[in-house]
Amino acid sequence: MIRVLVPLVVLLAACTTPAQDDARDGTGPITFVDGRDTTAGGQVGKLVERWNEQASRREQVAFVQMPTSTDAHRAQLTARAQDLEGVRDSAECYDVMAVDMVWTAAFAAAGHLEALDPVEFDVDRMLPEAVKAAKSPDGGRLWAIPWRSDAGLLYYRKDVLDAVGEGPPTTWKELRRQASEIAPRHNLHGYVGQFRRYEGLIVNTAEAVWAHGGDLERLDAPETKAGVRALADGFAQGWIPREARDYDEPASLDAFRSGRALFMRNWPYAGPVLDDAQESQVVGKWARAVLPGASALGGWNLAVSRCSASQKTAREFIKFVTRDDNQRLMGELAGFAPTSRALYEEPELVAPELRESLLNARIRRPSPHYDELTSLMQEILHHVLEKPDSVDQSLDRLADDLARVAEGR
Ligand code: GLC
Repeated sequence: MIRVLVPLVVLLAACTTPAQDDARDGTGPITFVDGRDTTAGGQVGKLVERWNEQASRREQVAFVQMPTSTDAHRAQLTARAQDLEGVRDSAECYDVMAVDMVWTAAFAAAGHLEALDPVEFDVDRMLPEAVKAAKSPDGGRLWAIPWRSDAGLLYYRKDVLDAVGEGPPTTWKELRRQASEIAPRHNLHGYVGQFRRYEGLIVNTAEAVWAHGGDLERLDAPETKAGVRALADGFAQGWIPREARDYDEPASLDAFRSGRALFMRNWPYAGPVLDDAQESQVVGKWARAVLPGASALGGWNLAVSRCSASQKTAREFIKFVTRDDNQRLMGELAGFAPTSRALYEEPELVAPELRESLLNARIRRPSPHYDELTSLMQEILHHVLEKPDSVDQSLDRLADDLARVAEGR
């Protein structure tokens, strides 16, 4: 028996290595997956077209769009990667995937990604925080290449604030006053953001909480409760409209660009959309500032799938997309915050408010168990936003539940 097994094992080992090498050096048509292209004029699609114009016919890229919610996007990538586990060379494989910095390490730990060589992609030229989030938690292997960074901004109706001789708020107190007093006089909602039950809710809550001196690691602290209560009160008092409980990024952008809200919290991609006369009714009427408190750090990386048989093409495509000149172009056309540090020396590319927001941006809740923590937080916080009276009790309970998860109990 043993005599039969040993040669079989040797044979199997001999077979896997060349196959892996083939995949690593493989070239061919590939699929690139990103969230729905909500940029002004579909700039991600155009970037793929530019690759396709200069690439050989054998190395064309097909662009597949996922839902805009990062959670739904991840769920679909996970399902596909699981279906193709152990498979190479399937037309179904998503060769290059855009992965959110907040779940890149966990996604890699599940075995869905190929490790990448930092030197090949020259990641030393990139923002250190972004590179760190693309590595294993121990700082070891690199799983993806930072493509765009993200930090929240406060978009506001400058025409309206100018008319009453005011500037944008720098504190939540001012924001609340302007949203509840000025907005109704102009027939506007006060404030919109992303409050649907998904990752965007955690981003928006973390920012309100930080602005009140709390943080998501101390959910039962009075400052944290004050931040959550500020949002719940906003809904109860009506200066955050009820429908914002179902808003993600595009839905909140829609409310603001159609001229229905005084303030909107959103990412930098919203800027070029608001300037586009075909998509926006507020061209020339808006401006943006830093949030009244720190922003959550966001961003997207590009990764190579385990199932890809054309990994050389996949890596070349990632190099093309993350090249400084293409990052500059996406900054100009799509409003993306670059990951290349050199581009931050170009003030006309990275506006001062974006630079400041990025520099002060914070990690949502640092934890190797972030996945479990965020889904628990999403459930409870979404509920609490409708019930200001339950904030105290619910956050005490949530703090206990999260402590149990963090301790692996
Ligand atoms: C943006 C950010 C990402 C975040 C998501 C939440 O896409 O870049 O990091 O998780 O918004 O909705």
